[in-house]
Amino acid sequence: MSSRVKWEPKYELGIEEIDNQHKKWIEILNTFIEAREKGKEREVLKNVLQEIVDYTKYHFETEEKHMEENKYEYLESHKKKHKSLVNQVAEIVESVNINEARAIASLEVLLKNWVLKHILTYDKIYGEYLKYKGNS
Ligand SMILES: [Fe+2]
Repeated sequence: MSSRVKWEPKYELGIEEIDNQHKKWIEILNTFIEAREKGKEREVLKNVLQEIVDYTKYHFETEEKHMEENKYEYLESHKKKHKSLVNQVAEIVESVNINEARAIASLEVLLKNWVLKHILTYDKIYGEYLKYKGNS
């Protein structure tokens, strides 16, 4: 059974730039999951892994910039949440040389659970904030 992630409308914030990046992020995550499931060579796996780590950082930057421009009052606490994921990822990436298979598996679980939950709760709140702001 494939553990790919499916994009669902519930992830939509109504902010085109961020929604598109979330879709792209899920796409890269799926490439990573597939590469792992198919037992691709470690070189391929490491490249996709690097790609998702880089894209996550890039995406967080975009989101934070967007929030800053819209004077989001919870920007600081949102930034802290992003930072906490980046730190957790860095910690796992550091352990790659100790136990590669385990590091890769825990990274997949972490990214999948953390990011999807983050979108559904904290990013959604930002989407609501913008809608409210636009209407007031
Ligand atoms: Fe976020």
